[in-house]
Amino acid sequence: MSEQLLVTGGLGFLGSNFVRHAVAHTTAQVTVVDKVSYAANPANLSGLPAERVRVVRGDVEDSALMGVLAQRADTVVHFAAESHNDMALHHPAAFISSNVQGTFSVLEAVRAHGCRLHHVSTDEVFGSITPSMGSVTEASAYDPSSPYSASKASSDLLVKAWVRSFGVQATISNGTNVYGPSQHVEKFIPRQITHLIQDRRPQLYGDGRHIREWTHVADHNRAVMDILERGEVGESYLVGSGVRVANIDVVQTLLDHFDRPVDELDHITDRRGHDDRYAVDSRKLRALGWRPRFLSLSDGLADTIDWYRQNECWWAEPKVAAEQRYARWAIDQKSGARGPVHDPTTS
Ligand code: DAU
Repeated sequence: MSEQLLVTGGLGFLGSNFVRHAVAHTTAQVTVVDKVSYAANPANLSGLPAERVRVVRGDVEDSALMGVLAQRADTVVHFAAESHNDMALHHPAAFISSNVQGTFSVLEAVRAHGCRLHHVSTDEVFGSITPSMGSVTEASAYDPSSPYSASKASSDLLVKAWVRSFGVQATISNGTNVYGPSQHVEKFIPRQITHLIQDRRPQLYGDGRHIREWTHVADHNRAVMDILERGEVGESYLVGSGVRVANIDVVQTLLDHFDRPVDELDHITDRRGHDDRYAVDSRKLRALGWRPRFLSLSDGLADTIDWYRQNECWWAEPKVAAEQRYARWAIDQKSGARGPVHDPTTS
């Protein structure tokens, strides 16, 4: 691992877990650049040695800042992104600027300074995968369904173009749904865990038969490290544990962990454009030696639940704000409104 590592979005869920991994398993000096939006939390990096990790508050869309930071970096790992589908349905503009314009700015910086780049993306770029399709491979066609996945697909295409046109030394990972400690409470699993801690009923979109492939954050970030160390420049890698579970089964597993009856849940209005199923074939990544360590969702959820039980001060305030957004969006969706003027991604 190179000595100067620049991590964009390093105060978010995936990015901060990656920084901890890099500090524990390499000798790299890490610089984090993060705009500290509602989805980031400086506490995510607490306890790390100041001589190893430096945090710069700034936006990846700031091309001058990215130029200065890239000049000192050997490797850039680009996590910074707006990542929540429900938010994208109500505030798509923020996704185009952060995910598309932001990636463009990162690409120009690494091109100017000759850095190695790893771009962290999502399996959602392939759209919904029917059971008859099995799973996607890196060669499958992009077919995004939502403003979020379209913005990530666009960012991937920019990376691929910068590799071909300018010889940028980049790899891409397309990860499945990730879970684990310190994920923002707007996302499915932490939303349900924190509802259960507060004695509320889990909230399932529609019939709850939608299938996601769940990868633990530690497995996801070991994959990113393996791709940096052994991946081939210009290539994409799918990151998936193979643990494919319907949302209703995830909720019932959680209810079981909380000793609550398995039918103690609410079916609520479905998400617009909700993809039915994601499933990836991660053999290309496994050929680099990567193997997921969390092969049972129930096992992976145990430490995640413990973390949320022990860190209520970390999530209590963001949860109030997230639930206010959900309540507002439910009203907007019913009335057909295009969404409130105030954009929470900018505050
Ligand atoms: O597939 C990778 C992607 O996984 C990442 O790129 C995204 O950043 C990440 O947010 C995730 O996308 P999803 O839309 O699948 O994640 P989310 O946690 O929002 O929802 C997971 C599933 O749970 C989805 O089928 C919608 C459903 N859901 C979600 C919420 C918040 C519910 O049934 N109830 C809920 O309250």
